[in-house]
Amino acid sequence: MSTIRIAIDGPSGAGKSTLAKGLAGILGFLYVDTGAIYRTVGLHVLNKGIDPAEEEEVARSLPELQIELRYDGAGQQRMLLNGEDVSEAIRLPEVSRAASAVSALPPVRAYLLETQRELARKHNLVMDGRDIGTVVLPDAEVKIFLTASPEARAKRRCLELEARGTPQAFEAVLRDIEERDWRDSHREAAPLRQAEDAVLLDTTALDFSQSQEALLKIIREKVSI
Ligand code: DC
Repeated sequence: MSTIRIAIDGPSGAGKSTLAKGLAGILGFLYVDTGAIYRTVGLHVLNKGIDPAEEEEVARSLPELQIELRYDGAGQQRMLLNGEDVSEAIRLPEVSRAASAVSALPPVRAYLLETQRELARKHNLVMDGRDIGTVVLPDAEVKIFLTASPEARAKRRCLELEARGTPQAFEAVLRDIEERDWRDSHREAAPLRQAEDAVLLDTTALDFSQSQEALLKIIREKVSI
């Protein structure tokens, strides 16, 4: 039996992971946060003292990397790097920057492609990232491009960082978001872009439940679940 695949792409801070996780819970699907996988590679590279932009060195370090996705009792995705749970460590700002740098490298993308496709062959899922609808699952049943203004995204990121006890100034967060947007959408390998057959949802003026409603409507128009 073939699986149902819901691909959600968009820039950082658009609410992808919170919304995708919520949707997966409602639908009883697996939630796969592919950004967390790139972040784990970024952390691995930092741990090894490698410059995340050095393609050859990063590529040479990939065979030493063992990444595992686990799901806890609450259905939360946990990331294991060489057997160690790094789910919290991968959220640090320096790891965000390293993830953005390694994710621009073709050997890294090629290395992670099959892992992501394998999950989609086995499970009904909601997978979020940057290239899910364009590269990883180009024939996904549902494709959504989720976005919001940079200011709205920076505001949400600030609240998130504050809740985690690591507050940062709005201006710095906004600058970081704009830089990452630029890098993620201007890289040569699988840049962030909306798939032609993806439905665009702008959440700038929507709260969480309005965004979730809008997403469920889009999904139910495409598949009967
Ligand atoms: O969604 P996130 O912020 O956790 O993603 C971390 C970085 O990984 C981000 O800079 C973009 C990159 N990424 C990617 O290139 N492709 C994906 N499918 C997911 C994330």
